[in-house]
Amino acid sequence: VDITVSSGGGNATNGHQYGFLHEDINYSGDGGLYAELIRNRAFQSSERHSSSLDAWFPINGAQLSLNNNPSAPLSDALTTSMNVAVSKSEGTEVGFFNVGFWGMDVKIQKYTGSFWVKGGYTGSFTASLRSNLTGEEFGSVSIPSQSQNDQWTEHSFELTPSKSASNSNNTFAITFEASGVSGDSLDFNLISLFPPTYKDRKNGMRIDLAEALEQLHPTLFRIPGGNMLEGNTNTSWWDWKNSIGPLKDRPGFSGVWGYQQTNGLGLMEYLEFAEDVGMELVLAVWDGLALNGDITPQAQLQEFINDALNEIEFIRGPVDSRWGSLRAELGHPEPWTLKYVEIGNEDWLAGAPEGWDTFKNYRFPMFLEAINTAYPDIQVISSGSVYDGYDIPAPGGGDYHLYAEPDTFVSEFSKFDNVATPHLIGEMASAHPNGGSGWNAGLMPFPWWGGAVGEAVALIGYERNQDRIIGVAYAPIIRNMNRWQWSITMLQFAADPAMTTRSTSWYVWELMAAHIMTETLPATADFDPLYYVAGKNEKTGGHVFKAAVYNSTDGADVPVKLKFEGAAPGTEAELTILTGPENAYSINDPFTGINVVETSTQTVTSDEQGNFQFNLPNLSVAVLDSAPK
Ligand code: AHR
Repeated sequence: VDITVSSGGGNATNGHQYGFLHEDINYSGDGGLYAELIRNRAFQSSERHSSSLDAWFPINGAQLSLNNNPSAPLSDALTTSMNVAVSKSEGTEVGFFNVGFWGMDVKIQKYTGSFWVKGGYTGSFTASLRSNLTGEEFGSVSIPSQSQNDQWTEHSFELTPSKSASNSNNTFAITFEASGVSGDSLDFNLISLFPPTYKDRKNGMRIDLAEALEQLHPTLFRIPGGNMLEGNTNTSWWDWKNSIGPLKDRPGFSGVWGYQQTNGLGLMEYLEFAEDVGMELVLAVWDGLALNGDITPQAQLQEFINDALNEIEFIRGPVDSRWGSLRAELGHPEPWTLKYVEIGNEDWLAGAPEGWDTFKNYRFPMFLEAINTAYPDIQVISSGSVYDGYDIPAPGGGDYHLYAEPDTFVSEFSKFDNVATPHLIGEMASAHPNGGSGWNAGLMPFPWWGGAVGEAVALIGYERNQDRIIGVAYAPIIRNMNRWQWSITMLQFAADPAMTTRSTSWYVWELMAAHIMTETLPATADFDPLYYVAGKNEKTGGHVFKAAVYNSTDGADVPVKLKFEGAAPGTEAELTILTGPENAYSINDPFTGINVVETSTQTVTSDEQGNFQFNLPNLSVAVLDSAPK
């Protein structure tokens, strides 16, 4: 394929092409990115999930029970506590332990913990990290009791084990002298333990997962969902107000993926994470439609529009505004930047066709007008696209989601070439194998190489239109291998960080995002089986060429002759080529050490006519970048 790239006449890109959606699915929030080690730390309940003693076990005959109706709960938000009844034989150390999110990683590092307790107790509490298999204690700390009979008291501690555990099958225990208890029992609530966190944030993110995401060079962060935003019913959507402030004032959330959530990973934590990684926000606001098809009538919608305006003010309002001052009080006086606000999530799906009709008839137009009146610079985005049958009113944008076979991604290469309305690709991933029955074929067990190449073709198509494509988000991003609902994710993990693995897609998205263009440039050749985009990066001074080969004739290599007009002959460039077996998904596997993605990097030099010449194998993804080193 002979390609000549013009020296001008292209389109400026917007600089935030690649990113991801986060919602709590697959225990990717609680038990995942959110670094809290204690599962079921506050015995929270919700519309769909009742409070339980899940993950808690007694030590030395203590009787554990839920205290669902204490006369004085810890807070209005956390009403259920764990009652620990003891029989007072002199000298017996009793208590309880938590098994974490299917284990806990124990290392010689500082853990920070706290718990609330109510009940008369003279003595000390012991907090310890132990092996669940042998009972071996890796470290403990003694915490003098300040507990009182009639009020809740918080106890905080730091715990540095003297020994690392050889595996993650470990527990966290709190014990105390039964004889020191003045009544028959003590009540505990909000029992929390954090390892060191990403960028040392209090209540922050798990380091290995945050770093693996950061290494994708993401510049776009869509929060808080996905289905999580919508909630199961009109009374159980992800309410941002429940997710801010002290943990004891966060009631938790009726997770839509089958488990209760803590609200610990709340709006501020999301915003801080975006700030730490350097990601542009796409904030989704609740728009009056829930997953069960509940629709808010027009006459009642204003309440939720006001709520969205309050949320926007909380994020970017001045410190002397009502909600901006609360943000300052919570520790972030500086407003965050917020330029993209999405209205709802997949409104074409829940409760269709009424849900979608009401979105088009009044919900989107009302939100659009209210938000742009108050914030004319915000790009308001419909949760559906022009391809979902919506002629989106200007200046609104659209959101297009695609979970599909790789062939579909390839067939949609030109999908946005002639779409004037700006669009976010808010969720995408190759999810189903070619040749199956599409969505009904079920998800693949892991992302696989052929799927990743299909995604690359689509990404190249989106990047060619990056003057109108706001950005592209992979979804969902992480999966706890102990409990999950969706098998296609960028990262897979368990309690032990050594088990965190990067999928085939991770390698493709990392490569694409590492080489940003500030301007795309027109180029000469047709597409298929080579799909490509070319441009330049004014900041680095380099030319960039991104390509994928999908289904070449007889699987032959594709010879490429590439010339950037105006570039001097003899220019050096770095050429990175990713390859892999089409159906392989044994990702960078911790059990076998096998990574099916092969990366080759070489320096290539343009010839006397200014041509770079190289071969790209079938099912490869490649980037050439001539930025001076
Ligand atoms: O990413 C998983 C789910 O797929 C999202 O929650 C939803 O928006 C989509 O249907």
